[in-house]
Amino acid sequence: MKDQKIQTRNAQEESDRFHTDYYLTHDLFQQGTWLEKPNSRIMEIGALLANQERVRALDLGAGVGRNAIPFARLFADGTATVDCVDIIDVAVEKLRANALAQGVSRAINPILSNVAEFHIPDGAYDAIMAMSVLEHAFAPERFEAGIATLQTGTRKGGFNCLSITTDLKERDCQTDQSLVPLITTAVSSQECRELLQRLYATWEIQHLSFSPFRETIERSGRNIEWSANYCLLVARR
Ligand SMILES: C[S@@+](CC[C@H](N)C(=O)[O-])C[C@H]1O[C@@H](n2cnc3c(N)ncnc32)[C@H](O)[C@@H]1O
Repeated sequence: MKDQKIQTRNAQEESDRFHTDYYLTHDLFQQGTWLEKPNSRIMEIGALLANQERVRALDLGAGVGRNAIPFARLFADGTATVDCVDIIDVAVEKLRANALAQGVSRAINPILSNVAEFHIPDGAYDAIMAMSVLEHAFAPERFEAGIATLQTGTRKGGFNCLSITTDLKERDCQTDQSLVPLITTAVSSQECRELLQRLYATWEIQHLSFSPFRETIERSGRNIEWSANYCLLVARR
């Protein structure tokens, strides 16, 4: 348990450092970066909700608004609210500035909070998105319960869109040494598939896929190669 707490703290510190640096050096919608465009599944969910009178969405680990801002732009002014939670202040400040620049500052509600401590009221949201954040925010013993709070927070007929890093491997490019991945919850693709299929058994699973991904990042002056399978789930309650 003590080792897990240390791993969680180290992994969260590394995530905060990496994302702070990334958001300070890359702009929203910048070509060739992962901020270039929103996730197409989230935009499809927005299109399905667009004729509703009022829409309330939640973006956990929203970053600088890659998904929340284009989602909010699908709705007439004053009809949608997107609560956007992120743990780092640079993300929240940039999100606020980006929402203003994109004309959706009334719809975007930036919230500085740890996802693990954010209370989601029952049935409050038409859509909850959590893209590449649950594995940072929830320790292994709270991982399943954490996803369950997203489910209870979704109204009947509403959507969840989650992406989770699975099968993460890290390699030091200089020494070719395998490293213990610096992530709060390391989950295999098989465990993740089984967990989501079980948790969402009474929902309509509209999409569940695993896509390989590889990139080199810099950490403390060393090049680290990341390889993983990205899980993407879209489900309707
Ligand atoms: C890979 S980025 C994805 C950002 C955004 N969802 C997107 O798709 O562009 C992960 C985001 O989660 C945030 N994050 C990491 N751990 C978090 C936590 N415990 N609570 C809230 N946000 C967290 C990071 O600061 C970062 O902005």
